[in-house]
Amino acid sequence: MSSEASSVHVAVLGLGYVGCVSAACLAQLGYRVIGVDRDESKVSNVLAGIAPFFEPGLEPLVRDNVAAGRLTAGTSVDAANDADIALVCVGTPSEKNGNLGLDQLRRVVHDLASTLDRRAKPLVIAIRSTVFPGTCEDVVMPLVRNNRLVSVVSNPEFLREGVAVNDFMQPSLVVVGGDDPDATRRVADLYTPLGVPPCLVSLRTAEMIKYACNAFHAVKISFANEIGALSARLNVDPGEVMATLCEDAKLNVSAAYLRPGFAFGGSCLPKDLRALTYRANRLDLHLPLLDSALPSNREHLQRAIEAVLDLPARRIGVMGLAFKENTDDLRESPVVTLLEQLIGKGRQVRIYDPHIQLDAIYGSNRNFILQQIPHIGRLLDASIHETLAWCDHVVIAQKLNPELSAHVTRSGLPVTDLVSSSLAYVAAPVPVRA
Ligand SMILES: NC(=O)c1ccc[n+]([C@@H]2O[C@H](COP(=O)([O-])OP(=O)(O)OC[C@H]3O[C@@H](n4cnc5c(N)ncnc54)[C@H](O)[C@@H]3O)[C@@H](O)[C@H]2O)c1
Repeated sequence: MSSEASSVHVAVLGLGYVGCVSAACLAQLGYRVIGVDRDESKVSNVLAGIAPFFEPGLEPLVRDNVAAGRLTAGTSVDAANDADIALVCVGTPSEKNGNLGLDQLRRVVHDLASTLDRRAKPLVIAIRSTVFPGTCEDVVMPLVRNNRLVSVVSNPEFLREGVAVNDFMQPSLVVVGGDDPDATRRVADLYTPLGVPPCLVSLRTAEMIKYACNAFHAVKISFANEIGALSARLNVDPGEVMATLCEDAKLNVSAAYLRPGFAFGGSCLPKDLRALTYRANRLDLHLPLLDSALPSNREHLQRAIEAVLDLPARRIGVMGLAFKENTDDLRESPVVTLLEQLIGKGRQVRIYDPHIQLDAIYGSNRNFILQQIPHIGRLLDASIHETLAWCDHVVIAQKLNPELSAHVTRSGLPVTDLVSSSLAYVAAPVPVRA
């Protein structure tokens, strides 16, 4: 135990799966911890050195740390008066309509707020419960009335029941988000002994990340099950298919394709998804996740189209025509759909794509332009300078190489970037009502 750890006093509010595991593990790391729960039986269990529920490895941690005097418990948040950090771990169950239930959170923060007048030292309130973006700002901060001794951060928990102690001690991810760098750092420092570099992010990102992670896990499971079900119907070993898929650490089990950006297109993804879902349908196999990929992509493209139609622009210069950079393949390019909508709605458009010059391309792509989309082909410029000199707004529909990007920046024109991960075009932020 480091002397630094033993000098930090942590209050854990809520002794359920997350709270009790956090309290026992932090005590094991050397912090002085008090767990608070309004459920007397949980508190008396902890004080007796007993885990209040079954979780492998928890009971010895509770027993040893209570015996060592590092872990104690109580039913009143007054016990948190001496704490430097309060980890809020109360439940946030679903309401009937699916919305997040914040009653426990409001109550515990309200109780905590009522003790603040008696405080002499700063307190960081770290919300570990899963809450929707905006909750810290809209619910927690007003309850503590922006007390100058109090900072609020978000510190989501990623442990899994059944392996919770192990997950706490060897976390997959440590995230702390907040506007006060000192408070964020103090909470992140709690986890230093675990050896996982913390991700220090904005408050709302920290709140959102837990939902993103859980949604991703749910989508991964459903994906594996749908591919598995289809494989089995096709007399293919589902386990072998997914194990082989996981062998690809470059494109499959990696950060590839996990950046928000523009809609997908091209000669493979739409065609192969259609073939897969068509075949599944013929086998009377309902695969809602795979069925939803193309409609989801169309929705995303539609958001981009609407954003461009809403631009206060008279002459729009579109950068990119192929479905991605470094290709002249126009098959199922979402940019073609975007342009057709813009032209159809009477917008003035010119296009520049470094790999699609009418006098240079040949073969099927040239034929496609001349025969299928001559109305778009006529709008192609031979150089980026022509497009930039003509337009009053640039729409980036394809990742630009550094040279083209520099030309766009130097033009000083307003830019709507459909490709960048900021997705600023999707919508202006809406106020979140938690
Ligand atoms: N269980 C998990 O695997 C898991 C993992 C990660 C995140 N989470 C999130 O963490 C949060 C807690 O989950 P959990 O499973 O530990 O919940 P839980 O229901 O097991 O525990 C919540 C505890 O908070 C206590 N509590 C409620 N109001 C209180 C108050 N005013 N004062 C003191 N104590 C109070 C309850 O008595 C209960 O013991 C939820 O937001 C959940 O979504 C859960």
